[in-house]
Amino acid sequence: MNKLNEFETQWVTKINEYLTSQLKQQIQQPLLNEAMTYSVAAGGKRLRPLLTLATLTTFNVSITEDRLKAATALELVHTYSLIHDDLPAMDNDDLRRGKPTNHVKFGEDIAILAGDALLTLAFEWLTTNQLSTQQQVQLVAGIAQAAGPNGMVAGQVDDVANEANQLTLDQLMQLHKRKTGDLIHYAVLSGLIMADATDYTNWLQFADSFGLAFQIYDDILDVTSNEADLGKPVAQDGNKNTYPNLLGLDGAYQKLATTIEEGRQALQLAEEQTGLNTTLLESFFSYFKLNEEN
Ligand code: IPE
Ligand code: IPE
Ligand code: MG
Ligand code: MG
Ligand code: MG
Repeated sequence: MNKLNEFETQWVTKINEYLTSQLKQQIQQPLLNEAMTYSVAAGGKRLRPLLTLATLTTFNVSITEDRLKAATALELVHTYSLIHDDLPAMDNDDLRRGKPTNHVKFGEDIAILAGDALLTLAFEWLTTNQLSTQQQVQLVAGIAQAAGPNGMVAGQVDDVANEANQLTLDQLMQLHKRKTGDLIHYAVLSGLIMADATDYTNWLQFADSFGLAFQIYDDILDVTSNEADLGKPVAQDGNKNTYPNLLGLDGAYQKLATTIEEGRQALQLAEEQTGLNTTLLESFFSYFKLNEEN
């Protein structure tokens, strides 16, 4: 078992239990409770909170309940983004995390509201814990920048508004950076904040490379994978700006490989600079199965 799998075995159940127990206790409106819990509990790889916890572990910072609460707040934002991404007005998908999408199960009105509530609840979780006020403020500012109008939401606008236009490679990279990269950037940033790290540069370069690679790979899987393995429909990106559509599948795999290499180099620099062991974070690259391994 590689380090990522070991870390998943150690933490995914705890992340899931924390998420579902907190939602159960905190959301009083029964239908809203059901709709929020439905999408959060449907599964998902939990890669974003895992990245935060792995960053803390790399800095030898213990994972207390307060830090777990802050790390899982990001999963609320991510799940909201998926519920809204699947809506008929957006990607119009009917399967997510192996189950009917939120709007198929609860209707569009409740799906929109469940997404709104998950987004807002994340901010509550970042400010109702025993972390220092300074850390709370930095986390709130960081997640707002990552998820908001200069981050993920802007990327989603670039995505849906440009379906009829072919973007350049630079424009596509910018779209991916915002739409997916920024939340992954924040996953690592939040770990750095809670670890009181002093120099963020190489760690965030790692996060940015991982985030770009993550969306390139998501685009590749839309072409190469299947619904049963992914838990969401494939071949949905026909008229979207994606790496396979712009560069072909081989070109997308090449870009994935060079982006992973940039991320590895950034981690190497971080390790040389700090003396910390980066093998756990490096193991996150094992998520990507490159062409020759298929
Ligand atoms: C899907 O994210 C949306 C993208 C940003 C590509 P994930 O692939 O992390 O989805 P879950 O959380 O595992 O369901
Ligand atoms: C979604 O990208 C990124 C989000 C901000 C949710 P996609 O539209 O490619 O994600 P999937 O393929 O539906 O998971
Ligand atoms: Mg989309
Ligand atoms: Mg989608
Ligand atoms: Mg996709």
